[in-house]
Amino acid sequence: MSDRKKVSLPTLFTKVAKSEPITWLTCYDYPTAYFQEQAGIDMILVGDSLGMTMLGYDSTLPVTMNDMIRHTQAVRRGAPNAFLIGDMPYMSYQASNETAVLNAGRFMAEAGCDAIKLEGGREMAPRIAAIAAAGIPAFGHLGLTPQSASALGGFRLQGKSALQAQKIIEDAKILEEAGAIGVLLELVPDRVCQLITERAEDCIIMSLGSGPDAHGQLLIYHDLFGLYPKFTPRMAKVYGNAGEVIQNGLIQYVQEVQNKQFPEPKNYFGMKDAEYDELKKLLG
Ligand code: KIV
Repeated sequence: MSDRKKVSLPTLFTKVAKSEPITWLTCYDYPTAYFQEQAGIDMILVGDSLGMTMLGYDSTLPVTMNDMIRHTQAVRRGAPNAFLIGDMPYMSYQASNETAVLNAGRFMAEAGCDAIKLEGGREMAPRIAAIAAAGIPAFGHLGLTPQSASALGGFRLQGKSALQAQKIIEDAKILEEAGAIGVLLELVPDRVCQLITERAEDCIIMSLGSGPDAHGQLLIYHDLFGLYPKFTPRMAKVYGNAGEVIQNGLIQYVQEVQNKQFPEPKNYFGMKDAEYDELKKLLG
């Protein structure tokens, strides 16, 4: 699996054409990127969710471009072949097209990304167009957009009413026409996701908690393995409780050191008698 070919945009669009679901996970560090690459993941998102999952903030807003670049570089080292998407952090693109292009360029040049992602609907179409015009593939993000969670009334389903759904469906088309290579739909009703996917012509539609009828699925890595202690959202499926394994291992380590059960002889190295005697002479 590790010597697989690089996943490129044509690889992804071929999957769409063949109705083969695209796999996508978030990732923030080298060892996890290595495991994801070995598992054959198609796309990796270094999400600004790292502010919560890795840095312990209550939201994604404090995350900086430098935080994102540092983590994305580590992920690229672990996963050289996955299609790598850098998530534009809060205020790295909202202010102007120029800021957006410069920060998107940093992701490509300094972290080896294949594309970037930014949040927002029609109001962000000029940013997508400017980034695409600079030759940088851009992904949109609609529905629940965590950087605007406060304005959206919290982390909740978006597009429940026909009017709200119509706006999201229009926004997806506007982003596609602005040049987005794809749009992530986070927490919108399954039928809204299906309608957007059916209407997409040259745009990869991905679902995060928005049902099966997209071109592929995204989940937050920490939610798959019980690694985020504060909560696990309903949309996530837990594939194993690594958090519990780690916690139990840590408790055992603390107890074994306290009880002098660790280290055992197999965990350390000795010294030849002759060298030890010589050492004692040297030390007087
Ligand atoms: O930052 C992130 O991980 C994201 C997901 C919530 C889609 O943007």
